[in-house]
Amino acid sequence: MTAIRSVVLGCGSYLPERVLTNAELATKIDTSDEWIVQRTGIRERHIAADDEFTSHLAIKAARAALAHARLDAQAIDLIVLATSTPDNTFPATAVAVQHGLGISHGAAFDLQAVCSGFVFALATADNFLRAGAYKRALVIGAETFSRILDWDDRGTCVLFGDGAGAVVLEAQQQQAGNASDRGVLTTHLRSDGRHKSKLFVDGGPGSTRTVGHLRMEGREVFKHAVGMITDVIVDAFNATGITAENIDWFIPHQANKRIIDASAHKLHIAPQKVVLTVDKHGNTSAASIPLALAVAVKDGRVKKGDLLLLEAMGGGFTWGSALLRW
Ligand code: ACO
Repeated sequence: MTAIRSVVLGCGSYLPERVLTNAELATKIDTSDEWIVQRTGIRERHIAADDEFTSHLAIKAARAALAHARLDAQAIDLIVLATSTPDNTFPATAVAVQHGLGISHGAAFDLQAVCSGFVFALATADNFLRAGAYKRALVIGAETFSRILDWDDRGTCVLFGDGAGAVVLEAQQQQAGNASDRGVLTTHLRSDGRHKSKLFVDGGPGSTRTVGHLRMEGREVFKHAVGMITDVIVDAFNATGITAENIDWFIPHQANKRIIDASAHKLHIAPQKVVLTVDKHGNTSAASIPLALAVAVKDGRVKKGDLLLLEAMGGGFTWGSALLRW
């Protein structure tokens, strides 16, 4: 039985030049490299320049993904951009990216699911492609979280960084119609607004008319994270008959090494299958999965035919998983 699948043609990423180390942070706030590394696994993060916006990061990541796919931007007819740090309240940052790439056909829109944004965007694009509405999509996660951090709050400002990652998807007929197909095999999205005050930004155009700063009850987020992540991964396993042993690479949202390790351990995923970039990137929210993916593709770990498990959890709470064959 044949099936239309969203096959990944290429991926790419971009990180701003400026690197902010834990040691440098410790000269500005009451923290230490040891505390940050022990609690989170983060050693450094990239910070966008003042004149560098989310769209600029996204355009660079998109161009890298198109080059990797050996595709001209004109072949793209859908752009779904996940971000919580748009250039402006409106229009969508995706439209700036579309314009920056010289595209004026098809559709481009933003999607906001905080740290789960990339998984939500992937699922959205996948559904449009499999429905036959579009042929080739750019799915982008791009963030400038440095702009919404309270740099005096040591409980949050040490955790986040800036960056962007992108994948190019193409609707392709696959022959088997089962989990041996290439492309996105299944996606699972969840949210529960009862937790909306545990991780939020205390400003916005409709409430305070300001941008606001990120606020988080770190312990509460930590408490829920592993259970939510593993639940939604089990949903993906049950939907496909795939088990943890079948996974070649686990590419989680890079929030915190302890959350990633505990999730992998609970699911019996071997540590050597886990792609970790949180040490170098910090938590880049919607950008973290495609940034990690691009690293593992570039260094040759991810090969054609490999089975990838993606997951994320973030503000809302929102959480989700995706299985895809490279
Ligand atoms: N440096 C030094 N000390 C610090 C720092 C810091 N950067 N931040 C907080 N502390 C202090 C606190 O003030 C507190 O001191 P006190 O005991 O004297 O009051 C002490 O460290 C313990 O604070 P907690 O907040 O309880 O520390 P905890 O062990 O929970 O670690 C952390 C905090 C790292 C935020 C943890 O709760 C966590 O990882 N939570 C998950 C949050 C997360 O990953 N969010 C990302 C977004 S959501 C997502 O993407 C999944």
